[in-house]
Amino acid sequence: MDAVESLQNAFVLVQDGIIVNYGEMNKCPNIDIEIIDLKDKWVLPAFVDSHTHLVFAAPRHNEYVMRIKGKTYAEIAAEGGGILNSAKKLHTLSEDQLFDMALKYANQAILNGTAALEIKSGYGLTTESEIKMLRVIKRLKSVLPITVKSTFLGAHAFPIEFKNNHQAYIDIIINEMLPIIAKEDLADFIDVFCDEGFYSVEETKQILDAAIQIGLKPKIHGNELGLTGGVQVAVEFNALSVDHLEHIGDEEIDCLKRSKTMPVALPGSSFFLKIPYTPARKIIDSGLPIALASDFNPGSSPNCNLWFIWSLACLYNGMTPTEALNALTINAANAMGISDTHGSVTIGKKANLMVTKAFEHINEMPYWFTQNHTERIFTSK
Ligand code: NIG
Ligand code: FE
Repeated sequence: MDAVESLQNAFVLVQDGIIVNYGEMNKCPNIDIEIIDLKDKWVLPAFVDSHTHLVFAAPRHNEYVMRIKGKTYAEIAAEGGGILNSAKKLHTLSEDQLFDMALKYANQAILNGTAALEIKSGYGLTTESEIKMLRVIKRLKSVLPITVKSTFLGAHAFPIEFKNNHQAYIDIIINEMLPIIAKEDLADFIDVFCDEGFYSVEETKQILDAAIQIGLKPKIHGNELGLTGGVQVAVEFNALSVDHLEHIGDEEIDCLKRSKTMPVALPGSSFFLKIPYTPARKIIDSGLPIALASDFNPGSSPNCNLWFIWSLACLYNGMTPTEALNALTINAANAMGISDTHGSVTIGKKANLMVTKAFEHINEMPYWFTQNHTERIFTSK
């Protein structure tokens, strides 16, 4: 994970959105092309953000202040705040209003160097509102100049009226929501928040069993709040990724080693919620890969700038700058099933490239923290 190859004084040749050649400048083919001078700058594969909740109705700054005054994320959620608060607001907005807001955030992510986005539903929690969110994501897929993958996260929380009857809500997910999603082709992946106070392992299995039937591949929220079996269920269902992992023991690491499931760390939410950081160093030293994502959302990570995630990963997840770059590009592409076409400067891949500001060394990129070092971005979907 620590290897990043680079060339100095080099060219990249792009044709019809595909990388067709690269190499040292003296080997650059002498053809009629537009030449862009990038002296002292770097060309990196653009970032891939494999975990976002980019469609939402409003920020949750009230909860931010409640947490400053001492309440925990779990306490706020148990009182009907958190995800349920976002769902209440989302019911009142139209599809067009949500689309306009989401488009603004997606463009912000692109300007920060992101050229592929996974976006989840999960702030609807009724059939009507979950479908509304997924339709917004489908529209984003068609208008944005980047690859977007859609994840159905109807199992993000239990609506208040189903607090004491979980099965009734799970039945709605399975019997009402999934058939519409299949009919309108509204999702690529299925996600469940399998954690303490949210979905149990048994509840998660029921939902995954049904979602797999309509062709959705699992990506799981797991082990954010405790050692609750999220990793084991993700691996059992051959999930593309299991995300969060602030809590992870030897048993979970062994389980991941016997799988193709990508562990994903989300240091933005550790930072914002002041919870432990995923022990990426321990995970990598055990021989596993890891990916990084923003988890952009109004409750636990209101940031879509992956440059800042890069800095956090180095400072608090114990990753080297080059490990973190791989985690934000090729491994993140793997976590959203697009590593054949995205995540590296490779001949034949789609030309998703960014030009950075001038740096002497790659280590400087996360060192200058909180800035957007993207000077220009080229995208291809
Ligand atoms: O990944 N952990 C679950 N879901 C989101 C947070 C959602 C929210 O608080 O709105 C996350 O952190
Ligand atoms: Fe999340």
